[in-house]
Amino acid sequence: MSTKEKVVVTGFQPSGRLHIGNYLGMFKQAAAMQKEKGLKRYYFIADYHSLTQKYDPKQKSREIMEMAIDALALGIDPKKSTLFIQSHVPHHTNLAWIFNTLTPVGELERMVSYKEKVSQGQIANAGLLTYPILMAADILIYDADFVPVGEDQIQHLELTRAIARKFNQRFGKTFKEPQALLTKTPRVMSLNDPSNKMSKSIPSGCLFIFDSEAETTKKIMAAQTDSHKTIGFDPKNRPAVSNLVLIFAAFRGVSEKEIVKEFKNVGYKEFKAALAKEINSSLKPLRTRKKELMKEKSKITKLLEQNAKKMDRVASKKIEAVKSKVGLI
Ligand code: AMP
Ligand code: TRP
Repeated sequence: MSTKEKVVVTGFQPSGRLHIGNYLGMFKQAAAMQKEKGLKRYYFIADYHSLTQKYDPKQKSREIMEMAIDALALGIDPKKSTLFIQSHVPHHTNLAWIFNTLTPVGELERMVSYKEKVSQGQIANAGLLTYPILMAADILIYDADFVPVGEDQIQHLELTRAIARKFNQRFGKTFKEPQALLTKTPRVMSLNDPSNKMSKSIPSGCLFIFDSEAETTKKIMAAQTDSHKTIGFDPKNRPAVSNLVLIFAAFRGVSEKEIVKEFKNVGYKEFKAALAKEINSSLKPLRTRKKELMKEKSKITKLLEQNAKKMDRVASKKIEAVKSKVGLI
């Protein structure tokens, strides 16, 4: 086995339906990394993370399974990537414990995502506060080089790097400092409020990948625009229309300029109809694939079990090294 192989790690929470922000901001990148040689790809369902927010225990296992199916439908290829469930590899939380003891509470309280969630009325349980430490463990335990994420996770990645540095300084070189991989659309904004990122917490402005075509079209046609009446790309002054242009460009795989040029002589209605068509045709194969995968649950369960065993072996080696460095026996 080559030691030169670089490692790509990312996780996604099984808490609700995936939207085009998840797709354009992260999954597309994670899937694209499968085309590159010399990489190990470890992609996991962050089920422990998802317990930090309100949830229904009766729904959880279904959500986890559905997230596995969705990841596969979005292009995660089990022949090229190892897809697994976080809680099946307990060394993530073992390492997180050690990192807990190295991280000042003040640094966690500064995390924007924590502050946002608390300001939205979520109970500040200790897990919500320490969640970035578990995320650091998820990444560092595999010596990740690259982490595909959306922009909202950058601060957590910075903390991950800081934890790696701190550990290395105190106990000797043990961890690599990973690098975030952003797409050209690291922050897709809400369709009805361009000052907020697209998120499932505002469903009307959120385009879910597995919505019906009719629902997708309806949401696009209702998306906020502005009073200019013509298409343009100017994120600062025209955030709503620019967000739509960005989404269009990302789905079609062209630049924003090309979209603006193509639609410069049409009104918003026609532009939006074309955008809805583009999105629906791009998502069609994913939607079809999901229906097929829904029939393969037992095969997927087996895959997840096998992969957990494989990842446990990888994680075990690292945790043994870490324990010995900190003086545990
Ligand atoms: P989550 O559903 O919060 O686990 O997010 C999964 C991935 O999607 C993470 O890498 C997020 O940073 C990314 N993501 C979530 N929302 C957006 C968005 N509106 N734009 C771009 N990326 C996003
Ligand atoms: N915090 C990420 C999110 O909410 C999910 C996540 C957990 C993750 N562990 C990770 C992402 C490790 C990248 C690497 O989207």
